[in-house]
Amino acid sequence: AETTEVKKGLAGVVADESAISNVIPEKRALYYRGYPVHELAEQCRFEEVAYLLLYGELPTRAQLEAFEQEERRQRELDETVHHLLRLIHTDAAPMDVLRTAVSLIGANDPEATGADLDTIRRKAIGLLAKLPTIVAADRRRRHGLDFIPPREDLTFAENFFHMYFGEVPDPEVVKAFDVSLILYAEHSFNASTFTARVITSTLSDYYSAITGAIGALKGPLHGGANEEVMRMLKPFRSPDEARQWVQDALARKQKIMGFGHRVYRYGDSRVPIMERYTRRLAERLGYQELMAIYDAIQEVVVQQKGIHPNLDYPTGPAYYMMGFDIETYTPIFVISRITGWSAHVMEQLADNRIIRPLSRYVGPPERSVPPLDARG
Ligand code: CMC
Repeated sequence: AETTEVKKGLAGVVADESAISNVIPEKRALYYRGYPVHELAEQCRFEEVAYLLLYGELPTRAQLEAFEQEERRQRELDETVHHLLRLIHTDAAPMDVLRTAVSLIGANDPEATGADLDTIRRKAIGLLAKLPTIVAADRRRRHGLDFIPPREDLTFAENFFHMYFGEVPDPEVVKAFDVSLILYAEHSFNASTFTARVITSTLSDYYSAITGAIGALKGPLHGGANEEVMRMLKPFRSPDEARQWVQDALARKQKIMGFGHRVYRYGDSRVPIMERYTRRLAERLGYQELMAIYDAIQEVVVQQKGIHPNLDYPTGPAYYMMGFDIETYTPIFVISRITGWSAHVMEQLADNRIIRPLSRYVGPPERSVPPLDARG
């Protein structure tokens, strides 16, 4: 067993088959169920992509209408979730609040365990509908503001702005947000999705899988990076200052948030699409200086390390320009990725085998247990 090769971080390990998304790093391409993600981003609304991930095909107009109706009518939170929001400390991390809320919703769902695929899909649509309400409600109570109830006449993206700010921005801003949701929706066996599949593989319940996935996404090496990107960019007053800082940081071997990717070595397929929308937002809303800082850092990291930005790099500043609080960027990632996670939970269950890898033992060799008084 000692000669067994260890694949640290499961790098390069193909753990299962999946029909949900395909990442082709050499082509810098990403497909959701066969459709190029840039086409989905340009031509679809997030709801259509959510349907595609959950059902396997793009919806017809009638299917989309029925799906939207189902989502829209479940946006309200029940009293237990409102009560939870009153209980949790106002300085609790929004990701912790979201994780706890999903856990509560699961504990209160009488049919949480042993569900068939249709039931899981129904629960997934329920969470998809409620997560934005939780994120917006939590944000408002942290600022001492009143809860704004969801509106059924608004799209998924519009309604989120409405609940968060009390108003819906112009269509270009909404479209940029919608594109970010489409790009965040699914990405094969990333850490949080794999977590959801591991939990599902034990035949645990749907909500446990999602709660675990939220915990995995929170970390700064994964979804937490979109917040860290903005925390990095925000303090600089000029591109020169940013350039100097990033050179020093790289010399200290510090990791630059929003750069690098396990799968993409030549660049993240989603970045050019998102970056286009981020730049348009910057022009429109007057954030050229922020983008100059953004470009300066990117230039240095690419030149000096040959490491390219990942999706979190253009998304961080886009969310900043939209006015979202930095600590809610990763929760926004959750309200999109719930679709990919749920598709993977269903796929795992449809053809399940418990996920249980091996480890190579490197601890002390065999020895006898000494009596208590003979130790030390
Ligand atoms: N800044 C500086 N150096 C880096 C970075 C970075 N962001 N990413 C990788 N490197 C270096 C790394 O130090 C290593 O150098 P060396 O060979 O000298 O030790 C080399 O590049 C190879 O990287 P690695 O650590 O083997 O990469 P990994 O596949 O284990 O980790 C990663 C991937 C995404 C965790 C990592 O690139 C990273 O920490 N990036 C910053 C956090 C981040 O932006 N995460 C978001 C990921 S993508 C979208 C998402 O999930 O939200």
